[in-house]
Amino acid sequence: MSRLRSRGTFITFEGPDGAGKSTQVKMLAEALAEQRPLVLREPGGTELGERIREILLHQPEGMSAEAEMHLFMAARAELLRTRIEPALAAGRIVIDDRYQDSTLAYQGGGRGAPVEWPPTFPKPDLTVLLVLPPDVGLDRIRSGGKGLDRLDAEPLDFHRAVAAAYDRLAAAEPDRFLRLDARGAPEEIHAQVLGRVRSLLAQSEVRA
Ligand code: TYD
Repeated sequence: MSRLRSRGTFITFEGPDGAGKSTQVKMLAEALAEQRPLVLREPGGTELGERIREILLHQPEGMSAEAEMHLFMAARAELLRTRIEPALAAGRIVIDDRYQDSTLAYQGGGRGAPVEWPPTFPKPDLTVLLVLPPDVGLDRIRSGGKGLDRLDAEPLDFHRAVAAAYDRLAAAEPDRFLRLDARGAPEEIHAQVLGRVRSLLAQSEVRA
């Protein structure tokens, strides 16, 4: 299935809340500006996805783990069909702030929902995992003044389970994952990400 998107390059960012993903996404997008990457964040990026995002992050009564899993994946399916796949088919670089590994880590690892990787969801060419001890991440969000959403507000044990799930995912696919310590300086992290992305782009040029 992933062979369908032979021309583009699909890069995702993962990690706990407060790890600095959005900063890294922005830095990478700026470094690749000439190539006009499509930059997305999940959940969201489509009209349906934004409505689902609102329910997921702010539904006061919460929801069952399985319903939560399906909602995240429904938003993702819409984003894939309407934005990610067309961009990859046109040969573009797509940078997605969170993707299926988030559902595997949060709903699978954190909540114990039966999450699988649907065969129709392409695997990223590269997944940057920013690693941060969960208590440090939560402190960063609290002091950032953005406020906690429904998932951020979960207890520390939940965030520990998410982190452990991310570690297992990265260990299982070491070629796809670039695992970096999020406590490093943003510029240093960016340099490592960019180095890896450039070699990925060079490889795909050789193949083309
Ligand atoms: P967001 O404000 O975008 O957080 P962040 O800046 O950390 O990406 O909110 C996304 C929240 O949703 C975040 O707590 C992680 C969670 N999430 C899941 O639980 N499962 C998923 O599949 C995705 C995409 C996000």
